Amino acid sequence: KFTNYGVALQTGGLLAAWIHGCIGLYFWLRLKPWFNAITPLLFALAILIPVGSWIGFYAGGKEALALYENPEWRRLMLAEAKPPNTEGVRQIYDIAFVMRVIICGLVGLALSGRVVRYVLERRRGTYLLQYPDDKTIRSVSGTTILEASRLHGIPHAAVCGGRGRCSTCRVRVLEGEEYLPEPSADEVRVLERVGAPPRVRLACQAVPSGNLSIVPLLPPNATVKDARRRNLDMAGQEREISILFADLRSFTQFSDKKLPYDVVFVLNRYFAHMGEAVEDAGGHLDKFIGDGVMALFGAKSDAKSGAQAALKAAHNMSRKLADLNAQLSDELDEPLRIGIGIHAGPAIIGEMGYGTAFGLTAIGDSVNTASRLEAMTKEYGAQLIFSEDVAQQAGIDFTGITQRETEVRGREEPVKIYVVNNAAEFAPSG
Ligand code: FES
Repeated sequence: KFTNYGVALQTGGLLAAWIHGCIGLYFWLRLKPWFNAITPLLFALAILIPVGSWIGFYAGGKEALALYENPEWRRLMLAEAKPPNTEGVRQIYDIAFVMRVIICGLVGLALSGRVVRYVLERRRGTYLLQYPDDKTIRSVSGTTILEASRLHGIPHAAVCGGRGRCSTCRVRVLEGEEYLPEPSADEVRVLERVGAPPRVRLACQAVPSGNLSIVPLLPPNATVKDARRRNLDMAGQEREISILFADLRSFTQFSDKKLPYDVVFVLNRYFAHMGEAVEDAGGHLDKFIGDGVMALFGAKSDAKSGAQAALKAAHNMSRKLADLNAQLSDELDEPLRIGIGIHAGPAIIGEMGYGTAFGLTAIGDSVNTASRLEAMTKEYGAQLIFSEDVAQQAGIDFTGITQRETEVRGREEPVKIYVVNNAAEFAPSG
């Protein structure tokens, strides 16, 4: 018979098996580099295949029912199919009943297994887990750091779902490392792949046996792309880098006289040109602050190439600004002017921020000095000022370029600086 109950059972079975399969495939494939490209196709297949199957099953059932009304077709079909007799039918129903009991028993066993595990874990004791904001939770022994976070509703990145493959759950262990077992060979392999420094562990693999203080290294909404980034980008570390600040001169007067649309249009063109100038030189565009730009050089190379790249970027910026002024000559009452400051020195670099405002940046005295050198370009009426430290790191002889010594707020010693009126005409080379 083609009953509603039978249709519902078949539909439920189809959906359960299909969704289960899709979830498994998703967790298996989503870390593959090509996964994003074929997601729309997979999504379409995931919908179309079960819908097509169900329509086929339903239409076939209806058609068979209609044919069954025809006595001749029924006689031929029964002769061909050799259906079981009453005893055979009874046996089939008995087998179906036993199968259902077995399935329900297995599901019940799985659920009670969780209860038993929970009771055993409670008996084994607990440990305290401390997070950076001083939030502390108590979790039962035997749970991983990731499980503990989830059980207490603390968001924690876990792109691969806790299978120890994506590395997005990684944490830095501040205290209590001795309460963690040695990482398995698989965990070591994943940590090495992302260049993780010592004291970094996968939260989904580490099962603490005592109190622990940790810092998750990726934001809870980390993606597969974040997982592929080397740890160098994430962990805070002190490095010798060059920092560049650039700012538009007199832009406030310009924005006061123009419509908001024009201001945004000009600024976006300016940002695009400056961004290209930095990236062409091999720098990292840190952020745009108002009409200013902050960029880092040498964060992923060495101090010498960083300093050379920063000087190259200043040269590029000046040239690109001249191009932009030529392109916008009809819109601008006077050409845009820029002031650039560069300093080289130690800075703490790492990925910092929150939510979408999260990225590689630098902090420290060197950053403040670069910003102050940029501000000094107004006072000197120059386009570029860079410190002696930049010149030394770059290993370039700047004989012939105006040199000064100046006090810089926040620094005890005077700073030797080079003053360049037009960075486009200045061609640094090592
Ligand atoms: S969640 Fe993917 S490695 Fe831990």
